[in-house]
Amino acid sequence: MQFRTVSILDGEQLDALIVPVFKEGDAASGAPESVRKTAEWVARESGARKIFTPTTHLRDGTDGAPMRLVVVPAGKRDEYDIARAWQVVSAGVLALWQSTARRIGVILETQSLDAQEAVQSAVEGVHYAMWRPEAHRTGEEDRQLPPLDEIVLLSGTDSDGDDFGAEIARGQSVGEAVNWARALSNEPANLMTPSRIADAARRLAAESNLDIEVLDEEACRALGMGSFLSVARGSDEPAQFIVLRHNGRGGEGYDLALVGKGITFDSGGISIKPAEDMHLMKYDMSGAASVIAAAGVVGRLGLELNLIAIAPCTENLPGGHATKPGDVFTSMSGKTVEVINTDAEGRLVLIDGVTYAQREGATRVVDVATLTGAVRIALGRHYTGLFGRPEGFVEAVRRAGERSGERLWPMPLSDEYRDDMKSDVADLKNSGGRLGGAILGAAFVDAAVEGETEWAHLDIAGTAWYEEDRPFSPKGPQGPMIRTIVELASTIAARREPRG
Ligand code: BES
Ligand code: MN
Ligand code: ZN
Repeated sequence: MQFRTVSILDGEQLDALIVPVFKEGDAASGAPESVRKTAEWVARESGARKIFTPTTHLRDGTDGAPMRLVVVPAGKRDEYDIARAWQVVSAGVLALWQSTARRIGVILETQSLDAQEAVQSAVEGVHYAMWRPEAHRTGEEDRQLPPLDEIVLLSGTDSDGDDFGAEIARGQSVGEAVNWARALSNEPANLMTPSRIADAARRLAAESNLDIEVLDEEACRALGMGSFLSVARGSDEPAQFIVLRHNGRGGEGYDLALVGKGITFDSGGISIKPAEDMHLMKYDMSGAASVIAAAGVVGRLGLELNLIAIAPCTENLPGGHATKPGDVFTSMSGKTVEVINTDAEGRLVLIDGVTYAQREGATRVVDVATLTGAVRIALGRHYTGLFGRPEGFVEAVRRAGERSGERLWPMPLSDEYRDDMKSDVADLKNSGGRLGGAILGAAFVDAAVEGETEWAHLDIAGTAWYEEDRPFSPKGPQGPMIRTIVELASTIAARREPRG
């Protein structure tokens, strides 16, 4: 897909034009007078009130050819933000599914948002709509994506000299990364094993100027990763500890470490899960997919920071050698862990990832994990749970989310919760019961965070997967937190986010 910005619609041959119209009745600011009138009329006549539910209408194209006008209700103008900007564009493109549209136009809103933000979110929004989960259907897909090849963004500003090349490149890179992560999470566990994730990461590293190292079980054992390896025991698939490195500022250490939970299938282990919905546990590697994809963007954009991305990948199965409730292991940090519940495996792989990051000289660590069912109960599907310390860093991560159109909600973490994770026989236990389960999961990971390290934990168990299509997003894997991480890395690179 090619993207290009124009300031006026002059003789463009388009198959469709996407026009956001606000609740107040007026079209987005980039709309030329002729389009504005029609779009506002369509919105009014169709009674289109419901946000993101597009109406399409045929009208004469520039040279008399029919052009589809896609009017997307965009909500109230003063509520318009980056999240809405990508959602509106995405909803417009979703309305073109099963059509033959090749060249489309998108009207931007450049009054409520600045033009750079509007361009980047529109480019991302197009990508988010151009993804479907039916990867293994053999017949005609029931919903075909349109054969889009050119997208013209109408800024309505008279800054003709501005080609928005950087914003387009960035939007494309982020959009492709999100779809890459979605594709990985969507794959069934028999096809997306730890070794397959490692292969995908190797290909991505080669395209993104990243160094890659994949530690096998023997290498992990030599480093003392008893906690990570305790999860791998019940599976015949070899575990893989994937490490990607980007050296964008030169010198030693890492300004940011990412750690992603890579459970390619979570059966629960000996503490086995109920059968209902167990098939969805193929997406328990979504954290790994997101951090690998985000590292790829950082590499491709050549951001000026040192970044390390770590993805401990394994299956959690109840094989003959599987960890049993009550078993004790020593983690890479030296702390001992009593495994109370083998289904609380995510935290076991995360702590060795976090310790590895610190040994490599990381001063900030962000982990991303489908960690707890409890965060789904607490926040539902619309906010990622955000935990960590110190508060300044947690707030920096939340703001990065806000600036990139992803929603995170800060959750508490205090010594009482840390005490709940103390074991009778070892330093830590991996389960402290059901109450406040999302916080207890975070409190366990906290035990691996040493001294001055700044740390944020993003629990994406609610946001990684949607079981229904939404007007602005296909059902299935969502590829969460890639945008937030790229934005955070950019701020760190620009030294706009000093250490708290
Ligand atoms: N992968 C699950 C969490 C999960 C549940 C993600 C549903 C997405 C959808 C995690 O490994 C898990 O099983 N957590 C347990 C922890 C408990 C045993 C302390 C949970 O949340 O029940
Ligand atoms: Mn589990
Ligand atoms: Zn899990």
